[in-house]
Amino acid sequence: MKIKIFASLTIVAFMLTFTKAHAQTQSSQALEAKISGIIKKLTIEEKISMLHANSIFGTAGVPRLGIPGLMTDDGPLGVREDLKEGWASANLTTDSATFFPNGSALAATWNPGLAYRYGHDMGEEARWRKKWIMLVPAFNIARTPLCGRTYEYYSEDPFLNSRLAVQAVNGIQGQGIAACVKHFAANNQEVERGRVSVELDERTLREIYLPAFKAAVTEANAWTIMSAYNKIRGVYCSENPYLLNTILKDEWKFKGIVISDWGGTHSTVNAANNGLDLEMGSGGNYSKYFFAQPLLDSVKAGKVSMAVIDEKIHRILWVMYHTVMATNPPAGKINTPEHSKTAYDIAAESIVLLKNEQHLLPLNTSGLKSIAVIGDNATEMFHLGGFGAGVKARYEVTALAGLQNRLGKAVAINYAQGYSGVYKPQRRDTSNKYNKPDTALIAQAVAAAKKSDYAIVFVGGNREWESEARDRKDLTLPFGEQQLVDAVTAVNAKTIVVVVAGAPYDLGKIKKNNSTVVWSWYNGSENGNALADVLLGKVNPSGRLPFTFPNELKDSPAHALNAYPGTDLKVEYKEGILVGYRWFDTKKIEPMYCFGYGLSYTDYKYATLQTAKKSYSKTENITATIKVTNTGKYAGKETVQLYISKPNSAVERADKELKAFKKVSIAAGQAANVTLSIPVKDLAYFDNKTNKWVVEPGKYTLLVGASSRDIKGTASVVVK
Ligand code: BGC
Repeated sequence: MKIKIFASLTIVAFMLTFTKAHAQTQSSQALEAKISGIIKKLTIEEKISMLHANSIFGTAGVPRLGIPGLMTDDGPLGVREDLKEGWASANLTTDSATFFPNGSALAATWNPGLAYRYGHDMGEEARWRKKWIMLVPAFNIARTPLCGRTYEYYSEDPFLNSRLAVQAVNGIQGQGIAACVKHFAANNQEVERGRVSVELDERTLREIYLPAFKAAVTEANAWTIMSAYNKIRGVYCSENPYLLNTILKDEWKFKGIVISDWGGTHSTVNAANNGLDLEMGSGGNYSKYFFAQPLLDSVKAGKVSMAVIDEKIHRILWVMYHTVMATNPPAGKINTPEHSKTAYDIAAESIVLLKNEQHLLPLNTSGLKSIAVIGDNATEMFHLGGFGAGVKARYEVTALAGLQNRLGKAVAINYAQGYSGVYKPQRRDTSNKYNKPDTALIAQAVAAAKKSDYAIVFVGGNREWESEARDRKDLTLPFGEQQLVDAVTAVNAKTIVVVVAGAPYDLGKIKKNNSTVVWSWYNGSENGNALADVLLGKVNPSGRLPFTFPNELKDSPAHALNAYPGTDLKVEYKEGILVGYRWFDTKKIEPMYCFGYGLSYTDYKYATLQTAKKSYSKTENITATIKVTNTGKYAGKETVQLYISKPNSAVERADKELKAFKKVSIAAGQAANVTLSIPVKDLAYFDNKTNKWVVEPGKYTLLVGASSRDIKGTASVVVK
């Protein structure tokens, strides 16, 4: 009987799958027919008009055939406000949006589910604003802590990046909005980004700089991708046949549009033949763009074939049929309470507790009379600023407002500015003249700290200090913040330092001298509420650092090897695959804070790591299980991190590499059995000689930990 039921269920399942697949084939056939029908009707002039920008974020449609234009818009912080030509605000009152936490904040949650919600909600807002291509997510690898866009990007680890990128893309595209994953590829510094050539070996490219792009394309089917400004091996990414045609379109079977970064196209014939589909930029005479009149001329001169043009039009129409021309698209929404909740949840899970030696946190409010809230970053808003994309936030709760909201009138808040975070540099000015302490502001802060039970000092960067188009010069805290922290700490033993930033800073002195340190980010519309909830213990901090903080800049690989920002417009990635913790761990260099680090108000105990089997074939998945017990008083979320190491490898290997992780909620006194799965194929290295992925047979060590350096247990498996 059981067998019979099983057999009929199997048949039904098969038929359902068959019917679904058949329906899909039929609908994709119908779509193909529609697209080729349109291509036949378009004149060459109309086709060319679809291949380049005609406004700061838009392209022309073909009204004769009912084809609309395509509007793109920036993230990643949210759907950007409308701009006029020349990048000035259009001064509308209808273009405010939810401000989502910055990229490295999202990465610090180590929660792909939140990346999905971020994408979903931004997709809904983009629909409402009629922006069919969102220029997100951005996830270039944090190769140097100085990169001005570190705050926009995710992390230094390709695996963490991949898991977040896939979910962000799924979330956005589920709303019928194309994600544009960027910047493809190896755009890891802002200095000379428009001219520098990145020199790196194939293994490094494949293992470090491409995996998240590959995952976004092959797993999440990203509909568009943005070519980076820089060159790779001497060839601009926007006209790089190896990157765009060989890898992206042939190997990964990318079906969507390759979009240039704004003003990042450098030729007509090369770019057209080597894989670029759409030239974007802002300003100037759009009809003179490389993909405008010059492309028309090149087609007429036989330098670019009609087949090449038609393929581009096919890609554009294919994306349009999934977005602006889709039937029954989901409805758009803007600034909803659900979107605020997503912004709040990301912020709440992103905050990293770095030090809590005296257990000042969570703040004990019983008998609490006064708190000094000190520092410009307590009142600063982060949705706009600097050069590059921001969002006109419908609202942004500052840290000060968040504390006031949560504490009410019962606790007196004594605010002092402490320093002025004003920084209006020329685009490439990275001088340190902004580092001088303001003695008058510090004196006011000291007075406020003296008369308060606790002092919370907010320091860090801001959206001017960390910005697109420039890198920071060093890791020093700006605006005399260190002097402020020192002065306040000297007069109030209950001083809590909150660093608000999107990239690593030098916290050496604070780590040594201060008992209590919290790391927060450019944390979106709900910034202050989430932070106050963490400080007051309503939320148990669960953020984990998505990148290594070096003790000194020269400990970081690119700087240790003098391989940044390059010479003669070439930057050699001499560290190869040893980026981030891979370098620190392999070279046994102690970081200030390691990758994956973060404390909690509770404690977790890890039992013995177990694997389902001891030996695996190359097509299997390794299953590892560990019991984690919350032994403390607070419910919490622990991120279990699984690294692998390959002893006696035939090739150079990093000491360890992240291969799986899972964030789990565990009530106080309870335990969770955490199961992690690693496909054996993910243990492969890329062989420079054969240009292939190779899974080495032999013994591998699995290391489970609460961070890359807090390893709680190991187990070995053999790959046959
Ligand atoms: C940035 C892109 C952005 C584009 C449009 C460029 O400067 O590199 O990330 O999407 O401008 O604003």
